[in-house]
Amino acid sequence: MGKFEVLDHPLIQHKMTIIRDKEVGTKVFREMVNEIAMLMAYEVTRDMLLEDVEVQTPITTTVKKRLAGKKLAVVPILRAGLGMVDGIVNMIPAARIGHIGMYRDEETLQPVEYFVKLPEDIDQREVLVVDPMLATGGSANMAIEALKKRGAKTIKLVVLVSAPEGVKAVQAAHPDVDIFTAALDEKLNAEGYIVPGLGDAGDRLFGTK
Ligand code: PRP
Ligand code: URA
Repeated sequence: MGKFEVLDHPLIQHKMTIIRDKEVGTKVFREMVNEIAMLMAYEVTRDMLLEDVEVQTPITTTVKKRLAGKKLAVVPILRAGLGMVDGIVNMIPAARIGHIGMYRDEETLQPVEYFVKLPEDIDQREVLVVDPMLATGGSANMAIEALKKRGAKTIKLVVLVSAPEGVKAVQAAHPDVDIFTAALDEKLNAEGYIVPGLGDAGDRLFGTK
């Protein structure tokens, strides 16, 4: 079974509380989502491999570490996942960015795929799938399937708020995928929204409601 980690650093908890508040507007919501994603990137990349490299300082020559091994791709699930990209790429500027477009049919709650564009060498990259919300898990599972179908082998799912139902669904379908979340909430309501959650992440990010 892949890892499941709640990244509850005090800064993350504080910023999460801000974005849960329904009175918080688009500007602050967007800033906070990026900042939380940036803080999460720090934890999610903790196991990145390092290699020795010789460096000439102004004083002497020394051997120190630099990143080695697999390169990264950040893959937001559109739309809301876009809100996390800048924060992560601030920390990992060399990462390539892929996009998977998916929306939840509001009646059936089933995800519908409408766009996939990935780096060509996705099979050689560690992939961070990013989306603020993991509710039923349908969107994340379909995105992970789309990635695996195109050769991705090492996948981590990075979300802000998850419901237990979504975590179970991803763990059941993709036991090889590590899941990192800023918060694990109580449950889903009858409309498939996370409780207490933060509402519709895409609408709050882009001001569409
Ligand atoms: C939201 C969210 C996830 C999905 C989670 O996207 O950003 O992608 O719902 O729900 P699930 O786990 O039940 O699949 P939405 O479909 O609202 O699209 P949007 O990002 O374009 O607003
Ligand atoms: N998608 C959202 O944006 N919010 C939820 O609570 C569930 C799915």
